[in-house]
Amino acid sequence: MRNLKENWRFRISSKPGMIVLIIIAIGLFYKCGTVKHVPAPPVVAKTTINNDTLMAGKTLYVNNCQKCHKLYSPDAYNAAEWKDNLNAMQRKAKISDAQKETIYKYLTANIKK
Ligand code: HEC
Repeated sequence: MRNLKENWRFRISSKPGMIVLIIIAIGLFYKCGTVKHVPAPPVVAKTTINNDTLMAGKTLYVNNCQKCHKLYSPDAYNAAEWKDNLNAMQRKAKISDAQKETIYKYLTANIKK
């Protein structure tokens, strides 16, 4: 038992042991140090669509539209293109017409139609 304890102490205070500890410490510090706090952008109410619909649309979009590819940014397409994209993706995503419409409202909420 005593032997084991001494052996353990020896490992920690040995050179390789210290180097490993230092590397772990640096790793932890580096990780914590580089996490940037990004404040959420202010929500600008530009749309007449109510928040419940927007939230529902966003949830449907996130849940159904990133199984095969990344989520495209809402401003990547104009309203007509979103209509086409959603029609094309409806079968792939297996969403109903109503769900498609809600996602459309969310994606185009801040786009002039
Ligand atoms: C089953 C897989 C799958 C799902 C689910 C899916 N997509 Fe796609 N999506 C694809 C593939 C494959 C492509 C590229 C080829 C194509 O255009 O058909 C694509 C392309 C796209 C593009 C780019 C179109 C272009 O030509 O610029 C958009 C935008 C898009 N998807 C939106 C969506 C949205 C919104 C949903 C949810 C309703 C969705 N996708 C769900 C497979 C999927």
